[in-house]
Amino acid sequence: MTIVLGIESTAHTFGVGIVKNGKILSNVKNMYSTQNGGIIPSDAAKHHREISDKIYFESLNQAKIKEEEIDAIAFSQGPGLSPCLLEGLKFAKQISEKLKKPIVPVNHCIAHLEIGKITKAKEPIMLYASGANTQIIAYESGKYRIFGETLDIGVGNFIDNFAREMGIGFPGGPKIQEFAKEGKNYIELPYVVKGMDISLSGILTNLKQKIQSKKYSKEDLAYSMQETVFAMLIETAERALAHTGKKELLLGGGVACNSRLQEMCKKMCEQRNVKFFVPSRDLLTDNGAMIAFLGEIMFRYGIKIGGSLRKKEPNMVENGKEIFLGKLDIKPRQRTDEVEVKWK
Ligand code: ATP
Ligand code: FE2
Repeated sequence: MTIVLGIESTAHTFGVGIVKNGKILSNVKNMYSTQNGGIIPSDAAKHHREISDKIYFESLNQAKIKEEEIDAIAFSQGPGLSPCLLEGLKFAKQISEKLKKPIVPVNHCIAHLEIGKITKAKEPIMLYASGANTQIIAYESGKYRIFGETLDIGVGNFIDNFAREMGIGFPGGPKIQEFAKEGKNYIELPYVVKGMDISLSGILTNLKQKIQSKKYSKEDLAYSMQETVFAMLIETAERALAHTGKKELLLGGGVACNSRLQEMCKKMCEQRNVKFFVPSRDLLTDNGAMIAFLGEIMFRYGIKIGGSLRKKEPNMVENGKEIFLGKLDIKPRQRTDEVEVKWK
């Protein structure tokens, strides 16, 4: 029996989740949001610092466990905003010291992908659509390989930026979805797919000009944006399915909460005779449960740092070098395809 606690703090959300033997016992989170304007990293970090204890104890209560029962503390090591990541690392070290339990450093993007296992997808093509990332991925021989991705901005950041231009604060995605439901007229927008990659910055400039012209309603713009950009995602995902012959599509990341995107994925999969999987919404946007879920898998495999009362701690080996708890650091720019997936 293993109980692992997971801490998420890479950007807007501070979350703590607890997983026992692959089952989620709790998933408590709080998101930093704004009335207008985007994320200010130092403000988000302050939010995380102030709320961490409350979220931690709420998560223990929800899971109905005592802190002594925790076997390991997983945390999001990267990628993300440095001030926010540092809060998560500090908190993880603090709990590790208090409980004398080891730390498991987890890659945030891989956690978004691995939580998909909860849907029982076995060998899927993954469409990872989140704030900073938009990638078509498949697992192959020890790594998550990227088949295609955005050449500039992530689709979530793109939607948030579009929303900001309309005077909507962070996160913009859920409100844009509501506007889009009321949209009636399709407005032509650039459609930018280059092979397996997509590009969004030109569409953003075009949308900004259309907003400023005041000729179009917010509803029609939101609707047209979703139809165009989601079709680009579906086109590349479909091409990856055709190319690899895989029979499953797994959707993940915060933008996967969007019902229209889910519907478009479902339709494409039905036409291709492919099974479609998507985790529940509470596991799609940033959360601690996905960190605990992957943390437990890694911990069982033996990836852990420190936690012993002995002077010489058991250490993790990375690229042939031992990592000591004191030297454990954040990885703000770590890429999905850099991570050695040893536990599969
Ligand atoms: P990354 O995982 O790439 O580091 P992130 O952690 O910031 O990015 P997530 O928490 O996975 O991203 O997702 C947040 C994003 O999801 C935000 O950009 C938000 O606007 C978007 N989002 C949330 N709900 C919806 C929705 N219903 N429709 C569209 N976008 C949405
Ligand atoms: Fe994320």
